[in-house]
Amino acid sequence: MHDPMENDTPDNLEDLFAHNRTWAARMERDRPGFFTSLVKQQTPKYMWIGCSDSRVPANQITGLEPGEVFVHRNVANIVVHSDLNALSAIQFAVERLKVQHIMVVGHYGCGGVQAALEGARIGLADNWIRHIQDVRDRHRVLLSSLPEELRADALCELNVTEQVVNVAVSTVMEDAWSRKQSVSIHGWAFGVHDGLLQDLGMTLDGVKPIEALYKAAVQRIRYKWSKRAELPQANVDPAQAEP
Ligand code: CO
Repeated sequence: MHDPMENDTPDNLEDLFAHNRTWAARMERDRPGFFTSLVKQQTPKYMWIGCSDSRVPANQITGLEPGEVFVHRNVANIVVHSDLNALSAIQFAVERLKVQHIMVVGHYGCGGVQAALEGARIGLADNWIRHIQDVRDRHRVLLSSLPEELRADALCELNVTEQVVNVAVSTVMEDAWSRKQSVSIHGWAFGVHDGLLQDLGMTLDGVKPIEALYKAAVQRIRYKWSKRAELPQANVDPAQAEP
């Protein structure tokens, strides 16, 4: 956050360069050789697939430094099987960088998810958002059982769950797991309102069955949000639904 009272509030592009010079100088002063060591190699253990939203910066949220997380972001953190951009990034991360963890990170209050829920027409992005509407339609019964004000955040979590599966069934991950490479995929949600990450318990490692984990994750989401709405838990076994 930038305090408008501060002199260094970046109002223009010159400020960005000034900030950059200050940052680079401070890094080099505090950690001599930091940048020259980065030049030699990039060995991040993590790949972050998140929303483009400016409030969800991967490095700052996780306290990771340059060189520590490989990032792919798009509107509403979607992984589509024909998206060469996302697939290329995943392949590079898995096959070259050999990341150990891929996290798909959605966030509450996501504009893309909200637009999908409302069926709002924005423009070209409608065709991208359509992927989340497919998720919405797949979970129509669950979503319609919730009060309107909770649906967007529940859909945010359902979308993460679906995208974790999409990463898992990609040829890149199938190949990686068939050669016993150690890499797992996680589903997280970030709270713009409190700055905290939640693990949705959707972790795929190539060993445990995807279908069962997917169903359990959806069940947990149903339980969590209906509990929040204080609705009756007719068909949910809490012992099974709680993470
Ligand atoms: Co978003």
